[in-house]
Amino acid sequence: MQKLIIKGCRELGGKISISGSKNAALPILAASILANKVKIKNIPLVKDIFTMIELLNFIGLKTKLIKKKNIIEIINNEKKINTLAPYKLVKTMRAGVLVLGSLLAKYKKAKVSLPGGCAIGTRPVDLHLFALKKLGAKIRIKDGYILAEAKKGLIGANIKFPSISVGATENALLAAIKAKGKTILKNCAIEPEIKDLILFLKKLGANIKLKGRTISIKESKKINSKISHQIIFDRIELGTYMIASALLAKKGLTINKIDPKIIRSEIDILKKIGISIRQKKNSVIVKKSNKLKKINITTKPYPGFPTDLQAQLMVLLTQVNGISKIREDIFENRFMHVPELKRMGAQIEIKEKTAIIKGPTKLTGAEVMATDLRASVSLVLAGLIAENRTIINRIYHLDRGYEFLENKLKNCKAKIKRI
Ligand code: UD1
Repeated sequence: MQKLIIKGCRELGGKISISGSKNAALPILAASILANKVKIKNIPLVKDIFTMIELLNFIGLKTKLIKKKNIIEIINNEKKINTLAPYKLVKTMRAGVLVLGSLLAKYKKAKVSLPGGCAIGTRPVDLHLFALKKLGAKIRIKDGYILAEAKKGLIGANIKFPSISVGATENALLAAIKAKGKTILKNCAIEPEIKDLILFLKKLGANIKLKGRTISIKESKKINSKISHQIIFDRIELGTYMIASALLAKKGLTINKIDPKIIRSEIDILKKIGISIRQKKNSVIVKKSNKLKKINITTKPYPGFPTDLQAQLMVLLTQVNGISKIREDIFENRFMHVPELKRMGAQIEIKEKTAIIKGPTKLTGAEVMATDLRASVSLVLAGLIAENRTIINRIYHLDRGYEFLENKLKNCKAKIKRI
């Protein structure tokens, strides 16, 4: 099994370019079932994307991934379509459940494995199914699979989500673009990745309007058969490298290929902690500061502070003067990095949904274990600031979502290698 070995306390500097967003690319790949010929640019080369491509191939689409250019071409010639998403593919990547909406919209039926729980929480799909049922789908659960059918096609409806879910909003959108009449989705997630999906669907010919947390979709008979789309940058990867720079880039580190406007709330929070951030049109320059201030924060749906940056922020807060608090309000079990960080010397206590972080503490290298994607990268950040050597096990979690992590960090002078 592969491991990462990090020699900590090296100053970082130079430039990093941010990759395309995994969480935008996944629903857009699922949406490509609705088209005939699609070209997607800025596709991140990470494991979850490869799994989604495998799923599209299994369904019967033809895919050509041009790795050197981060481009994928997808053709749906409507031959031998299999409206099934098998357990073996959905169990490793929950976003596989997103093909449900597209398959149901286009082929009026789908059989998709239930994704089950995962390390960070139970992660049910009840909200996905709630929306699809409102659109007229008949849904049964059998042998661990969702069996969905809409023999006469889906019908537009007024749907108010009882709570905000990124995946359920995406699945409902994908299903609704072929529903008869008008659909209104209320209390939607409005993450930039959802806005990117809406842009893609509009290129396909969908008639979609977004206002506040309400998305209206009017039936559109015309589906453009051939489209091209550029995936938005990965704001979580950006946030991760901003925190790395805030910890170690004395002379500043430039992070390119981004739009600072999209992560305004994250930038505001890092500035509040005392980090120096210079914003340009398509880049930010982040510098380490020695006067860091404590903060209390709660994770929230966009535009709030993202749960996907919670673990990374916690590492930063171990270096801040005083007691900071992070309340995790999205997932019930997302503090699994805490015991590992404590083994490296961090002083963190958990009280129900809140982590209480006492700083500043010197971290020291240790052998640690990655438990999920974002927890893993928080251990990388901890390793980068720790004295001596840190060994991170189970790094397949990292490979699910961070493109060229070691190379990007090595180019900024970090001592990191995979064995
Ligand atoms: C997406 C992101 C993930 C991010 C999360 C929250 C992708 C591929 N993944 O995950 O990186 O951490 O948004 O920003 O984009 N819930 C229900 N019932 C449902 C669906 C969700 O109760 O049917 C709950 C979840 O358990 C969780 C909360 O709603 O507590 C938010 O989850 P959701 O927004 O759906 O996350 P994902 O779409 O799975």
